[in-house]
Amino acid sequence: MHKYLFINVFLVFSALLGTSAARAQTHWQFDVPFVPTPHVVIEEMLRLAKVTPQDFVMDLGSGDGRVLISAAQKFGARGIGVDLDGELIAESIESAKVAGVSDRVQFLQQDLFKTDLGQATVITMYLLPGVMARLQPRLLELKPGTRLVSHDFRIGDWKPDVTTQIRKNAFLWIVPAKVEGRWQLTMALPGGEHRMDLELRQKYQEIDGFGQFGDRPSQIWEPRLSGDRLSFVIVDDRDRDNEAALYFEGQIKGDVIEGQLRRGAGKAQTVHGWRAQRVSAVKP
Ligand SMILES: C[S@@+](CC[C@H](N)C(=O)[O-])C[C@H]1O[C@@H](n2cnc3c(N)ncnc32)[C@H](O)[C@@H]1O
Repeated sequence: MHKYLFINVFLVFSALLGTSAARAQTHWQFDVPFVPTPHVVIEEMLRLAKVTPQDFVMDLGSGDGRVLISAAQKFGARGIGVDLDGELIAESIESAKVAGVSDRVQFLQQDLFKTDLGQATVITMYLLPGVMARLQPRLLELKPGTRLVSHDFRIGDWKPDVTTQIRKNAFLWIVPAKVEGRWQLTMALPGGEHRMDLELRQKYQEIDGFGQFGDRPSQIWEPRLSGDRLSFVIVDDRDRDNEAALYFEGQIKGDVIEGQLRRGAGKAQTVHGWRAQRVSAVKP
């Protein structure tokens, strides 16, 4: 099924790309055929991932090397491309020399499923849906904040953080920290330290939950998770005459979250520290 879909994609490419598509494959020996990503789509993927010279980009199934060469030439990044096709690897090494980026990029003939992804800050992919689904568990274990960008295909049922369409679909995912569980939160509010129990549930980067101020449940509003950054709002309604929203922002480091909260808005706003410790995982 996916193969036929891909051949259609290939035929569209052939019409659009002329010479580069002439090298693209209609038959393939590896998990995905070689079909090059158009340069305008590569730029969009790298723009979405906000690639900078501090980034280490890995292109999984790097084809003729064009994604990584653009990342180095136009965005100053370093990185590694892996592909099983030895001819494409040799061509990529040559193209990197011509482009003057050999000191920043490396191309290795190896299986993407056997490649250590740990050093990547950005991963780029143009792979078939089945391959992406197989990669999904490993991608979810990467360091929170790692950006994943894909041309045309999604990663299983994982909803992208951003989708754009400039000729083709480009998707961005930011690997989320694991925040599911029960947390004990302490915050330095006016009048002294306060404690709150917090229960968070998570599906990828989508979260919800509730808090418990003393013996009263308290809804969590506007929960957001991006990489290791968490934010949410709770209404402090302990004093009906002095209610205020508590805007929490924090950074997740394993079983600890630390950050600041703003109480209220405008001139009345006050800023306080908060900290949470995970006490257990949420039961299914
Ligand atoms: C659709 S092309 C994408 C090329 C390049 N990333 C781009 O966007 O222009 C997919 C590439 O993945 C390579 N490939 C397929 N299975 C692979 C595997 N298991 N490990 C490494 N590379 C693989 C193919 O040889 C092909 O060059």
